[in-house]
Amino acid sequence: MTARKIPVANADLSGDEEKYVVDAIRSSWVSSTGAYVSRFERDFAGLCGARASVGVCNGTVALHLALLALDVRPGDEVLVPSLTYIATANACRYVGAEPVFVDVDPRTWCIDPEKIEAAVTPRTRGIIPVHLYGHPADMDAICHLAGVHGLWVVEDAAEAHLARYKGRVTGALAPLATFSFYGNKIFTSGEGGALTLSDPQLELRIRTLRGQGMDPQRRYYFPVTGYNFRMTNVQAAMLCAQLERREAILERRRRIFARYRERLARVAGIGLQPCAPWAEPACWLFCIVVDEKAYGRTRDELAARLAEDGIETRPFFLPLHRLPPFREASRARGEVLPETDYLGERGLNLPTFNTLGEGDIDYIAERIRAHGRA
Ligand SMILES: Cc1ncc(COP(=O)(O)O)c(C=O)c1O
Repeated sequence: MTARKIPVANADLSGDEEKYVVDAIRSSWVSSTGAYVSRFERDFAGLCGARASVGVCNGTVALHLALLALDVRPGDEVLVPSLTYIATANACRYVGAEPVFVDVDPRTWCIDPEKIEAAVTPRTRGIIPVHLYGHPADMDAICHLAGVHGLWVVEDAAEAHLARYKGRVTGALAPLATFSFYGNKIFTSGEGGALTLSDPQLELRIRTLRGQGMDPQRRYYFPVTGYNFRMTNVQAAMLCAQLERREAILERRRRIFARYRERLARVAGIGLQPCAPWAEPACWLFCIVVDEKAYGRTRDELAARLAEDGIETRPFFLPLHRLPPFREASRARGEVLPETDYLGERGLNLPTFNTLGEGDIDYIAERIRAHGRA
């Protein structure tokens, strides 16, 4: 047992975060009005290639707000992958809709466009593709199918900040996209989220619903029932600092991924995340897939060994169609999701954060190799 502890994620706030947060505090603009909120919204929209961005208090709320703005109602169905964080499906339930699970494509680990059509029913209203572990979903194929069936599309880009699909940045690949800035994300404000979009009418609706339903043109007049889903100026201050040094952050994470890939390329039984030819994924959390037969241990056995070595890991998301809130409905629909189950049982996230050193990566890879057969 080593004294060294390597966490799976760690927020890097080493730039101007502290300076901007102090500035926000000194200005006394600590709630949701303030210069950093508008600056963040303008900068983030620009980076994503969207016309507008709306800051909110977290990524779950961003999804909830998207569904409210699209008028999703009880009885509606929304197609989502089962291999994702639970927030994607929870948001559907918040508006009374039912998440219907579609298997993932082994070439992207994202919702499989070829399996979407079979899941469409007269109640289907939309699709939420998730850019899982930073890899963009095949958005052209998904948006084409959505057009054929009259469905809306919302990108869940929580884990895919500034990833690219066919050269275009996530956040502008569908009419509406959502992001999370939780502490383990590439850009973070502790808790935080955003929507990106281009339609001015939709933006007005989202801004109204975000701020208790208040008419943006008429203070304290509330034409609809809204929510308090606002981002604070303090959260936005942290994000402004990170967006300023985004190139350094993205480059550091690309280097971490490259070194992991190089060190783990030839370890028997350890598979790596695929990358479609059209994808430039965001380097969020490095992923491996453990093949028990070839490696000699299960994913969970490897995770336990690594924990003894002081290396924290994270199993892939437990497929949502297997969890109590969703499993009965999924079973009743007869959903069979072999690719999702395969990855959900074998996938493991390795430590990925800006200050992870080359020596740490070599140590982690060496321990993974040592615990295997070869
Ligand atoms: C795919 C996905 N969607 C939504 C969320 C929810 O974001 P938050 O934790 O900021 O509410 C997350 C994670 O945090 C996520 O990974």
